[in-house]
Amino acid sequence: MCGIIAYIGPKDGTSIVIDGLKKLEYRGYDSWGIAVHGNPSIAVEKQVGKISDFNDLDSLPGGRIAMGHTRWATNGAVTQANAHPHTCCTGKIAVVHNGIIENFQELKTELSSHSFTSDTDTEMISHLIEENMHSGMGFEDSVRLALTRLDGRFAVVAMCSETDKVVAARKGSPLVIGQGEDEYFIASDIPAFLEHTDMAVFLEDGDVATISSKPKPNITYTDFYGNRLSRKPTAITWTVEQAGLNGHEHYMIKEILEQRHTLKDAIAHPDQRIQRIADMINDAFGTFFIGCGTAGKVAMVGSYIFSKIAKKHVNVVVGSEFPSYHDFLTDRTLLVCISQSGETADTLEAMEIAKKKGCKVVSIVNVMGSTMMRTSDDYILCNSGPEKAVCSTKVTTAQIAILTLLAYACAGRLDEGRKLLTSTANRVNIMLDEQYLSEIQFLSKKVAGYESMYIIGRSLNYPMALEGAIKMQEVPYIHAEGFAGGELKHGPIALIENGTPCIALVANDEVKNEILINALEIKSRGGYIIGISPKDNDIFDSWIPVPDLGIASPIANIIPIQLLSYYTAVEKECDPDRPRNLAKSVTVK
Ligand code: AGP
Repeated sequence: MCGIIAYIGPKDGTSIVIDGLKKLEYRGYDSWGIAVHGNPSIAVEKQVGKISDFNDLDSLPGGRIAMGHTRWATNGAVTQANAHPHTCCTGKIAVVHNGIIENFQELKTELSSHSFTSDTDTEMISHLIEENMHSGMGFEDSVRLALTRLDGRFAVVAMCSETDKVVAARKGSPLVIGQGEDEYFIASDIPAFLEHTDMAVFLEDGDVATISSKPKPNITYTDFYGNRLSRKPTAITWTVEQAGLNGHEHYMIKEILEQRHTLKDAIAHPDQRIQRIADMINDAFGTFFIGCGTAGKVAMVGSYIFSKIAKKHVNVVVGSEFPSYHDFLTDRTLLVCISQSGETADTLEAMEIAKKKGCKVVSIVNVMGSTMMRTSDDYILCNSGPEKAVCSTKVTTAQIAILTLLAYACAGRLDEGRKLLTSTANRVNIMLDEQYLSEIQFLSKKVAGYESMYIIGRSLNYPMALEGAIKMQEVPYIHAEGFAGGELKHGPIALIENGTPCIALVANDEVKNEILINALEIKSRGGYIIGISPKDNDIFDSWIPVPDLGIASPIANIIPIQLLSYYTAVEKECDPDRPRNLAKSVTVK
């Protein structure tokens, strides 16, 4: 995915756009660029590298209409030429874009008389608009006509030096309009403009927003064919403070520590809302929990919790694999889509497939106004505030808490679920003190010296072993793998060497003795056992204590691994907020 921000208003658009890009950098950080409106031409500046490293604002052209882009490469390598914005042959039209244009080669061939300077699908859009303008059409109509020709998912913003208009459109990729006093913002996500306004319009698929700067900034909404639409802004509840670093060195540690309160926030939904969704699950004939990456592991732990508490079987499928299950869908099937961003393409595709089959869809999402939230039959927000580190932490545990509450509600024991989760939130708050952090930081110095590590768990904590491995892979780049404790002897135990760090997730539950035996099997082969458990044990070479939380043990167990991942990354001088090759949400298939 990529980050887009544009400004139309009376202020210095260049500095607002550069500042907005810095706030959107979590969406992509291999290159960036800005286009500033001028007549007769548009000034474009593009650079390879992170926008956060750029501080020379004076070197950029100034202007009151500007747009910028921070890129996560999909089509075309990471080069200055491939960075956005892209312009047409004359340089009069500039375009930024997030998504993928599937028929771009075909359209590029049609535009063979135009000269292209990049390998991107985005540049083709600027030439397509230019081609339409050659035939006598105005800029706005030319953009709309171009949009009707594009296949795929996209969010596009275009400007033209011959008009004062900026045109923004979406189909499948997020785009939000921030509406201030006589000024407008167009962005991929709310934090980009939150310090200027908290009023926003979330564009729907097929929407086109045209913002003119004269006589004073104004906006109109149409569909791709020019039919007028009415869109009203809604108030955003996220605050500027939530979106900032607030004295922390990195977003990742800030967000891990925010679990001191986000678990409580996650369950702060009225009983009726929780019960309504629980009833949908109870009434469904076939329920699928869907998610990708970490959200997929949350889906998996949710299925264990539902089995234990609600005595319900739930199918767990990762978003990208869901198309293979379409034969099992009916109008009584329920999809529960789990996502931080609410924009993950594979999960959205699963939703589309399910909707075509008449299934109901519920989403558990963090980002207010996201596509998943808006297109589900019902939703529960995680209430975690913006999660900006690429690696998901506080939203993961919020989602587990919500699924746990739903399982209790399905079993008609909502009060009991609330009590458990309130006590979980309190005990996590107590757990995360300075002493705890420094002990894990100390352990990270050992882990940082190894290329590989393994994590084992059973039952509820098997998915957490898988999730822990994702944490150790994506931030400190350690080759980590998670296993079900019982699976070790079927192959993976051959990987254990003298000193190999292995985390054992040992909850105080019915599989405690089995997982301890598995830990011992590893220790007997030279492995170094890090036990995450309410109680110490002779088998552990290092012990990370966690509160004894019963069915909520996955929440307690994953937090120390999040911390270990963070401190190991810092130890190895990796950037915890912007790991290589990754983007915060993956809006391409
Ligand atoms: C989280 O640490 C990962 N970076 C990633 O696996 C993420 O969970 C996945 O891409 C799904 O994103 P979503 O929750 O926004 O749908």
